Amino acid sequence: MKLTSLVPLLFLVPLLTSCSEQKQVYIVYFGEHKGDKALHEIEEHHHSYLQSVKESEEEAKSSLLYSYKHSINGFAAELTPDEASKLEKMEEVISVIESHPRKYETHTTRSWEFVGLKEEETDGDEVQRPKNDAKHGNGIIVGVLDSGVWPESKSFSDKGMGPVPESWKGICQTGIAFNSSHCNRKIIGARYYVKGYEKYYGAFNVTANRDFLSPRDPDGHGSHTASTAVGRRVKGASALGGFAMGSASGGAPLARLAVYKACWAKPNQEKVDGNVCLQEDMLAAIDDAIGDGVHVISVSIGTTDPLPYSQDGIAIGALHAVKRNIVVAASAGNSGPKPGTLSNPAPWIITVGASTLDRAFVGGLVLGNGYTVKTESITAFKMDKFAPLVYAANVAVPGIALNNTSQCLPNSLKPELVNGKVVLCLRGAGSRIGKGMEVKRAGGVGMILGNSLANGNEIPSDSHFVATAAVTPTVVEKILDYIKIDKNPIAFIKPGTTVYKNQPAPLMTGFSSRGPNVVDPNILKPDITAPGLNILAAWSGADSPSKLWVDQRVADYNIYTGTSMSCPHVSGAIALLKAIHPKWSSAAIRSALMTTAWMTNDEKKPIQDISGLPANPFALGSGHFRPTKAADPGLVYDASYRAYLLYGCSVGFTNIDPTFKCPSKIPPGYNLNYPSISIPNLNRTVTVKRTVTNVGNGNSTSTYIFSARSPLGVSVKAKPSVLSFNRIGQKKRFKIMVTVRMDKMNVTEKGQYQFGWFSWTDKYHVVRSPIAISLA
Ligand SMILES: *[C@@H]1O[C@H](CO)[C@@H](O)[C@H](O)[C@H]1NC(C)=O
Ligand SMILES: *[C@@H]1O[C@H](CO)[C@@H](O)[C@H](O)[C@H]1NC(C)=O
Ligand SMILES: *[C@@H]1O[C@H](CO)[C@@H](O)[C@H](O)[C@H]1NC(C)=O
Ligand SMILES: *[C@@H]1O[C@H](CO)[C@@H](O)[C@H](O)[C@H]1NC(C)=O
Ligand SMILES: *[C@@H]1O[C@H](CO)[C@@H](O)[C@H](O)[C@H]1NC(C)=O
Ligand SMILES: *[C@@H]1O[C@H](CO)[C@@H](O)[C@H](O)[C@H]1NC(C)=O
Ligand SMILES: *[C@@H]1O[C@H](CO)[C@@H](O)[C@H](O)[C@H]1NC(C)=O
Repeated sequence: MKLTSLVPLLFLVPLLTSCSEQKQVYIVYFGEHKGDKALHEIEEHHHSYLQSVKESEEEAKSSLLYSYKHSINGFAAELTPDEASKLEKMEEVISVIESHPRKYETHTTRSWEFVGLKEEETDGDEVQRPKNDAKHGNGIIVGVLDSGVWPESKSFSDKGMGPVPESWKGICQTGIAFNSSHCNRKIIGARYYVKGYEKYYGAFNVTANRDFLSPRDPDGHGSHTASTAVGRRVKGASALGGFAMGSASGGAPLARLAVYKACWAKPNQEKVDGNVCLQEDMLAAIDDAIGDGVHVISVSIGTTDPLPYSQDGIAIGALHAVKRNIVVAASAGNSGPKPGTLSNPAPWIITVGASTLDRAFVGGLVLGNGYTVKTESITAFKMDKFAPLVYAANVAVPGIALNNTSQCLPNSLKPELVNGKVVLCLRGAGSRIGKGMEVKRAGGVGMILGNSLANGNEIPSDSHFVATAAVTPTVVEKILDYIKIDKNPIAFIKPGTTVYKNQPAPLMTGFSSRGPNVVDPNILKPDITAPGLNILAAWSGADSPSKLWVDQRVADYNIYTGTSMSCPHVSGAIALLKAIHPKWSSAAIRSALMTTAWMTNDEKKPIQDISGLPANPFALGSGHFRPTKAADPGLVYDASYRAYLLYGCSVGFTNIDPTFKCPSKIPPGYNLNYPSISIPNLNRTVTVKRTVTNVGNGNSTSTYIFSARSPLGVSVKAKPSVLSFNRIGQKKRFKIMVTVRMDKMNVTEKGQYQFGWFSWTDKYHVVRSPIAISLA
């Protein structure tokens, strides 16, 4: 997201003299470190580059924000556009990245039981009952890049946990409301990164920013994501009003947490909803996380405008992490269901979409004409009897909301027409909870929150300020008809109760960002989906469950929605897999998760999209994750750091590593050994190369047979179509020929994607990969 103020500033440039030219933060990226320079030498090296474009040594010193030195080679500094372009032309410099504030997209009791990891009963009993080979993630360190942590949450208790792993090299950085005793054997490290943020928003002011200059989470987002990945098992956790009551647990409750706070509240906002994470701060966080010795990095942060890898701080940081076999999971974003909206598309990142759980908060809406519909609600406010029903557009102040009179935007409702009534408000502009606040302000007793067509049938549950029934577009039509026909329309909202085994589940959510991968369509994204709608997890004591500052309520646990919530589910699963298979590469772990994923729901039908049709791989990736199955995938598609460098040659992301040169004949991007296949603009035949590695569970001999469901308009064949293994670790290559079928060409539109899959099957395993192709 570009700061809008950048535009006028850039226009001013020609009027100013060169020394007062508008400065901003740039990241100067050199790729891998050369040889074994000491840390101070690296900083000097960065300094010498900076000095070559600055007038004085002092200026060079004061302009430097970060010198990345653990694994990423580069620095962040304040530069003029002119200085930046001079640096860009220098030898060794791979890219100069203009920093924009990247707004992260907000993107658990029930989740783990639903995916096959059963819940246990008592607080912290994971210590006494180490369940299986995964040992609840014991020994694994998960770094979470986010808005910090609320260390007092029971989810981060270290009760019964052993000493901090000896390999750990991180620190507990203290600051406002965060001292060294806030780290423990669970939160083994905490750091914060604010230099880039301060360059944009000015010196940090605790009062104005409503944030803590420390690893403490003012917001809830960071505590929610961290506890979803590695939170302890806490019995009796629930959101305000007792919703979703159950035991809350992260995926890997005995894994350790390392907190990297790189996202901050935007100053002077009316609600805590404008978290911003600057690339230079995130890159410093990833560089430290690598140096500290984390095993997994969880990033529920993304942009709405994906950048080429060489300009994408998360992609760059993740590549360096993957070189050290650290697994990086990131959220796909909340910009769906439009195609091509996905963030974090690099193939060395595990990109996670969001689907639903089988849990619902079922309430009801009854109209005066007897029409009754089940709704979802987690609102603690109740109505005691029927009340008059009005449509917001009929009771709005003219002028204030202009075209948006149906939206219940702040100060848009006339109290004299709303007092004591139920108001139908539509989604679109403004926040969902804000609409309920407006109804309450105007004296309303209830709100019907209507989805627009774009929202489809997916109902997010929020902790509203008045009794609320959230409904689908079809129900909105029914209500509008009733209001039109009836002279005295009335309605009653029944409070919600928590219901499990609500079928079918999972469903794909509408908000989850969709492929194709616009940075490189040769890589199919997202990789996988996990629960992201209405997830219960730990919250910040400094923020209300509604995230509005006027809301004085405090909640230990809160229900929250987004791919930000699905990503840490996968990060927790990765920690479990790492504990079982410490030697597996990050690509092997991705492969295990992807090839064992569910394509079907609990009714054994294809997982549906919001349209009601089967969700395709641009929504689902390879499917819904299944951590228990991923522990034993049979075969994996492995890829080394050098394989990613070779892949980088196909997209111009080059010269990262001084020991690697692109070959003169660069293989196409779709030949990266990935557990899925995407071929844009296919003509005639494309031959895709893959290699699988036998990781079978003690079975030294096994035979796998190929099968495929071809996308419409093409045929898919493998050579060979049988693979036999006689030892663990054995690799086998195969080719897949994807050929346009002339007889079917007229049934598929040029450029339109068609989907299918292929699999390798032995007696115990199905190793499945999705295929996406479009015809040239
Ligand atoms: C840290 O702060 C807590 C209060 O939040 C206090 O009880 C504790 O003594 C402090 N510890 C240190 C080492 O200052
Ligand atoms: C910090 O913000 C508060 C509230 O906006 C303001 O009163 C105070 O003067 C600010 N402090 C500094 C040092 O700018
Ligand atoms: C807003 O209303 C005006 C006039 O009523 C109309 O011309 C315009 O297209 C509307 N804009 C949107 C975004 O609906
Ligand atoms: C009104 O709605 C339009 C279209 O839905 C949107 O673009 C605009 O930002 C909204 N205006 C306000 C004041 O929210
Ligand atoms: C298809 O053919 C066109 C023109 O011959 C070529 O530019 C393009 O790269 C081909 N696409 C693939 C996927 O081979
Ligand atoms: C082969 O592996 C599967 C699971 O990976 C296991 O259930 C089975 O017992 C193994 N068979 C032999 C002969 O080891
Ligand atoms: C496609 O073309 C074939 C052969 O020309 C024809 O038999 C078939 O009916 C066509 N299918 C469609 C859907 O147009």
